[in-house]
Amino acid sequence: MGITDSVTEQTTDTPFHLTGNFRPVDREVTAHDLPVVGEIPASLDGLFLRNGPNPRSGRSPHWFLGDGMVHGVRIRDGHAAWYRNRWVRTKPFTDPGARLVAADGTVDLTVGVSNTHVVAHAGSILALVESSFPCRIDAELDTIGPWDFDGALTTAMTAHPKICPVTGELHFFGYGFAPPYLTYHRADARGRLVQSEVIEVPGPTMIHDFSITGNHVLFMDLPVVFDLELALAGTMPYRWDDDYGARLGVMPRGARGDQTRWFDIEPCYVFHPANSYDRADGRIVFDVARYPEFWRRGSDDFTPDAHLHRWVIDLETGTVTEDQLDDLPIEFPRVPDAAVGRANDRIYGAVLALERSGLVGYDLGTGAAQLLELNDREAAEPVPVADPEAADAAGWLLSYVYDRAEDSSELWLVAADAVDAGPVARVTMPQRVPMGFHGSWITDPVAIAHHP
Ligand SMILES: [Fe+2]
Repeated sequence: MGITDSVTEQTTDTPFHLTGNFRPVDREVTAHDLPVVGEIPASLDGLFLRNGPNPRSGRSPHWFLGDGMVHGVRIRDGHAAWYRNRWVRTKPFTDPGARLVAADGTVDLTVGVSNTHVVAHAGSILALVESSFPCRIDAELDTIGPWDFDGALTTAMTAHPKICPVTGELHFFGYGFAPPYLTYHRADARGRLVQSEVIEVPGPTMIHDFSITGNHVLFMDLPVVFDLELALAGTMPYRWDDDYGARLGVMPRGARGDQTRWFDIEPCYVFHPANSYDRADGRIVFDVARYPEFWRRGSDDFTPDAHLHRWVIDLETGTVTEDQLDDLPIEFPRVPDAAVGRANDRIYGAVLALERSGLVGYDLGTGAAQLLELNDREAAEPVPVADPEAADAAGWLLSYVYDRAEDSSELWLVAADAVDAGPVARVTMPQRVPMGFHGSWITDPVAIAHHP
């Protein structure tokens, strides 16, 4: 084990999230002009940010509970101009004694590890974790602090907000273990919170993500339910419940929360939708990475066996059809930012199974899948990058790729319409980038202003 790699001692009992490329790094690095193999298109001008758990102490009780660390690569003029990785200076980072839930049961939503996603909206960059308020950071990855939309936000915020490419609005929700279990929120294109709606659900489930269409907001109320015993044990307090059932919620955009309609589906779990849209026949298409079940034996029980599925919601008959679209085990499905909520055949994802890794690009119009299988390497979430010179072009994908033999990382740029052709550019990272969660390609000139 290299001294820069981890402060974690590895033993056979070490949980998976502290082994291999899941293990944390213990240094913050700033590096300039990174070596590139291949060619970065000269027109690309933006900041690739990626968040993930990286416990400062080297240990955490669960993969989802480590301190957030954001990795950033500034790309411009055909160069990888700089790399930075920074822990988000959250309350738990600066004060390990800080508690989301106090002994008297009160909840402090400014306490969160901000380890799951990082998005830009209305000139702000938000590091997100679903248990708490967002934490604003700047374009050099320095922490500004917790953000509650000028006091308007009164719930936690999902790590998976959706920016409508038509209106520029930020749609999101918060969920919690105490009522109201689910609340929908909408911020306008200027970042002002303009709508909050309680959405009634039967119980406290883990609602990691949701989706929007042009006309609707879609919720997933799935049977991974809050468990007080797990909470008291200090780990992820949710487990599978055979009795809870499963349902999809459909709320017209701009409607009241009590106008949400619910549609029963087969029990399953979904962390991540790929996308959803309104079909011309009035039905709603909802594509997701679906697990047949999740955390049946508690939250350390993780089998990566999600597959791309399509739900079609028929608002007239009140029914949902469900079809598996492919047999590849995938996670982290993404579509281009401009396709969020709109009909789009291209879906990208990471192949994720115990002994398998890769990247895949689906064309759901033709049924073709372009697969880039990685034998000695492991891919992370592929983040779509639009072609600034051709809005209709497929663009690229950015993904950190870990080399097991070298114990090192590269940032790969892959042509989105030729995923199986491999990377067009490989950026050599100055230190290993641990397997993390989600990221964004940020071109918002306000968000990255003053940080050339
Ligand atoms: Fe996620």
